[in-house]
Parts: sequence; structure tokens; C-alpha cells
Amino acid sequence: MTFDFDSEMNRLGTHSVKWEFLFDKGRPQYGDHADPKHGRNRILPLWVADMDFCSPPAVVEALVARAQHGIFGYTAPADSYYEAVIGWMARRYGRTVERDWLVLTPGVVPAINMLVETFISPGEKVLVQRPVYYPFFSAVENNGGEIVSNSLVYADGRYTMNFDDLAQKAADPAVKMAILCSPHNPVGRVWSREELTRFGEICLANDVMVISDEIHCDLIHSGHTFTSFGSISDEFAENSIVCTAPSKTFNLAGLKTSNLVIPREDWRKPYLKTLMRHGLMGTNAFGVVATETAYNEGEAWLTAVMAYIEENYRFMVDYLAEHLPQLKVVPTEGTYLVWVDCRALRLDPAARKELIMGKAKLYLDEGEMFGAEGEGFERFNIACPRHILAEALERLREVISGQ
Ligand SMILES: Cc1ncc(COP(=O)(O)O)c(C=O)c1O
Repeated sequence: MTFDFDSEMNRLGTHSVKWEFLFDKGRPQYGDHADPKHGRNRILPLWVADMDFCSPPAVVEALVARAQHGIFGYTAPADSYYEAVIGWMARRYGRTVERDWLVLTPGVVPAINMLVETFISPGEKVLVQRPVYYPFFSAVENNGGEIVSNSLVYADGRYTMNFDDLAQKAADPAVKMAILCSPHNPVGRVWSREELTRFGEICLANDVMVISDEIHCDLIHSGHTFTSFGSISDEFAENSIVCTAPSKTFNLAGLKTSNLVIPREDWRKPYLKTLMRHGLMGTNAFGVVATETAYNEGEAWLTAVMAYIEENYRFMVDYLAEHLPQLKVVPTEGTYLVWVDCRALRLDPAARKELIMGKAKLYLDEGEMFGAEGEGFERFNIACPRHILAEALERLREVISGQ
């Protein structure tokens, strides 16, 4: 079966955050300036992490059938739902997960917030690895925790973990939790088994619980292998809570359905209590249908979309090498996000924003959002038809060479 990723879908009128709510000066604005009628003046949004592609046809059909039923009452996942999730994890990552370990939560970001709320007392510390997905910061800070960064090291165009620093910081008795981003947003690393093992051993030795956010785990580029943290050993499984979702994989973020793997009963129970305290025991009626169908029938689509994203990636790398060699692409191993070192432009964040957003009308995620370690970088979301990516890069070339 072939899938069409080249045609542009008009997302206006769908309440799309990416296309219609273009955050400017910290305020969401409803963006009629994103109207395709504005032609080359329209804003191209390559920021928030969803795809401009339709979900797998089987998922769309299952949702249409569900919608046509016409009754959208309270919903709980049936056996078939759990079988689909467990089957996917076993097939794709060789992880054996028991049904009781799975806890549904309406999104990974809400999950991380509630995990911090559940397990961190005021004044306790949580390790993150900046530059990293910025909602980790608010999840910790909004729930009484203190952030400690075991910042990644960027050398020779590649990011690695700093294990000496990790060992030193994890030894602080106030550090109780580490949030791992695996694969890593924004730097695009797919952590190797060896790296994860060193990370996990340091956390185990210091009694630090690991929250492994694996939401990007299905978006792996050729030549790289994803290892799920909990699949490495029983001790790692017991010392971790793995957060997964079909939302990045199959472009279902708006359906707010994610699955946490919590093998330890003494961690599951308090987390369930937190969910209960927030009244979050129900499930999105469309989310369960989409998740089950995607995991059962979406694999061919996923292979095709990843091939397209990898071609987009090669297109971008070649384009920048030829036309804007001062911008350095950090090699992407996983995710559809590309982290670009723009420091050679020698522009402060405000001037860069004016050039990219103001002049090129291109919405990216500025590196500074991911922590001070991201200063001078930009994150591009390349999960879009190639002609949009080409137009975005062309605009960038125009404004940079016209400076
Ligand atoms: C690492 C990471 N975690 C979580 C999320 C969002 O999760 P959710 O939409 O399930 O809350 C994203 C979205 O970009 C992400 O990159």
C-alpha cells in the first residue's frame, strides 16, 4: 500500500495548535495570518511536535466508524486494547509487559506532572539532561521539586551524557528522580544500550527512580536501534516508570491517550491515587480506538512515514550544506525533529527571532527554550510535505544571505 505524504493538508479550521495558535510574545494568537491565501506571506509552522500527515487510513476508518455509532459515553479500555499495547511493546522492543503494569493517562506531559506530584516532596530534586523538552522543567517546578541538570555534552557535532557529573549529582540524597528523554528531544540521540546501562546503574546505586519518557521511541532512523529502558534488566524495570504513547508515532496527540509501564505495585498504587485525586480515571473514547487500531494495523504506515521523514532529513542536510554551510545540523538518530547549531550567525536570541520569525515568517522552537545549553540553536520539525520544508529552507537562505 502506498501513502501520500507529499500533498499538503489544510489544517486551518481544525483547532490546530501548530497552524492556528501561533505563539507570539508569549501570547497565543489565533493565526489568520497562517491562511494559505496569504501565499508566500503565510507563516510556516515547523515548531510543535505533530506531523502534517494524515494518520494511518485504518485508524481514520476506525474513528469514523466509532463516530458514526453516535454515543460517546464513559469509556474503559477492553482486553483487546491491552493486548494491542502489550503486543506492540513485545514485537517492537522485546519488552514483556504485564497488563497490570499499564496505567492509562491522558498524555505524557500530564503523567510526568503527576509523577513528580506523587513521588517528590517539596525541596527534593529531579535530574534532567538539558537541553531537553521544556515541559519537564514546569512539571518539576509546578509540583514543588527542584531541577538539577546533568547537562549533555556537545563535542565534535555530537551529544553524549556526562556520567561523571551524573554520578556526582545523583549522590546528593535530595535527588530522588531522574527524567530520561529517550530518544532525546531536541538533540535527536537514540541512546545506546551501553549509555542507558551506565545511566541506569548510576541511578540504581543512588536510589534515584527513573522516569523514561519514550514517546519518540518508534521514530528511529535507519542504522539506529532503540532500547527501551525497562527491557535492559529486571532491576531497571523495577526502578523505572516508562512513559509511552501512540501520539508521536501515528500523529494522534490530540486524542490524549498514553500508557505508563509501572511494574512496582508500591509505585503504581500511589500514582493511581494521584490520578483519582484529579478525577482522571476515564479514557478518551476515540483515543482507545485509535491506539488499538494503530498498534494492530499501523506498522506499514509507520515504515512508510519514517522513510519519508528520513528523505526529508537528507534533503535538509544537503540543502544546508550547499546553501547555508554556517548552520550545522546535529545528526538526528531518532524523532522527526532536527536540532541545528546556528551560533555561527552570531545573533542574540532576539535578533535571531526577528530574522527567522519576523522576516522569514518561519516558526521554529528556539534553542533557548530547552535550557541555557540550547542557546544559539533552533529546532525544526520536518514531519511535513517536502515542498513545505523546501520553502522553509529557501526562506531561511533568503533572509540569512540578505542580512
Ligand atoms: C519528549 C516528549 N514528551 C512528551 C511530549 C508530549 O506528550 P503528550 O502530548 O502525551 O502530553 C512530547 C511532545 O512533543 C515530547 O517531545
